[in-house]
Amino acid sequence: MTIRNTKTFRPDEKGLIEAADALRNGGLVAFPTETVYGLGADAQNDTAVADIYAAKGRPQFNPLIAHFADISQAKLHVKWSDMANHLAEALWPGPLTLVLERHNKSNLSQFLCAGLPSVAIRIPAHPIAEQLLANLGGPIAAPSANISGQISPTCAKHVNADLFGRIDGIVDGGACQVGLESTIIDLTGVPTLLRPGGLPKDIIEEIISTKLATVLNYGVIKAPGQIASHYAPQARLRLNAKTKEANESMLGFGPVECDLNLSETSDLVEAAGNLFSSLHTLDCDNAATIAVSPIPEIGLGMAINDRLRRAAAPRPATN
Ligand code: TXA
Ligand code: MG
Repeated sequence: MTIRNTKTFRPDEKGLIEAADALRNGGLVAFPTETVYGLGADAQNDTAVADIYAAKGRPQFNPLIAHFADISQAKLHVKWSDMANHLAEALWPGPLTLVLERHNKSNLSQFLCAGLPSVAIRIPAHPIAEQLLANLGGPIAAPSANISGQISPTCAKHVNADLFGRIDGIVDGGACQVGLESTIIDLTGVPTLLRPGGLPKDIIEEIISTKLATVLNYGVIKAPGQIASHYAPQARLRLNAKTKEANESMLGFGPVECDLNLSETSDLVEAAGNLFSSLHTLDCDNAATIAVSPIPEIGLGMAINDRLRRAAAPRPATN
């Protein structure tokens, strides 16, 4: 893999023009969204999209999300539906990804969809992502900006730790507010939750007046990203821990004694925002095991527990 000179682009007018130029020239540029940092490439450039897989060490069967500036541009690439329209009007820009049948006239790179007849689309709610999309004037393919299987990045430091020298640049826009990836809903058939994320599913169910089906069976892959071991720190994780044992670091939730607390006031929004950065921090402290307090399975707690279970899952031998 070629070594790249990773520039830091300022999040100002000039920096975002340069970052968009780098994308236009087929480069890989990491940028903040409201959820996590994305690793961007021109979604219509096959070579650039293929380079994303190489830079992340991502299996080629795992498709990427196409990010758009607005609904009218996103619609051109998929078979749009009333339900998609309903959700998009209510929740975009925001931490929601919709999987829809790909339009046969779409010129998104085939690599983006990893050969599937569907495509995942989203409009991010972050001023830097919005400006970058506007400057490029076209869609950006962007997975989370981490090495495949590792913890997603919520600040520029995390991105550089994984990808420095593998990408052409990064726009440093500070910490991501939501801190968890987008919620993914498959609308190609019965509306199905493929990945719990930064938007609680009850909000979605209320808007479409339908209960979502769920496909979260670990190891069996419908959304190729549903790989059991994911978001994995170097340390082992022990979930639902009441107290810490010898040689453990404790990641707490609520009024408990611990090394780091996701939210002392048991606020799930605050906890989601702190989850990945806390795992990064405790991992850098070289804890052998991170013990984690129980997190209630409500609202954003569903997505937090999903990420924790994947981080705790047995790792592939070669990871
Ligand atoms: O918040 C987010 O969604 C972030 C920011 C950067 O937008 N992106 C992100 O991308 O989390 P990534 O690649 O880490 O996760 C995308 C997920 C993967 O699990 C992938 O399998 C799934 O989306 N996906 C993409 N296209 C799909 C499709 N056509 N059908 C089913 N799942 C799809
Ligand atoms: Mg990811």
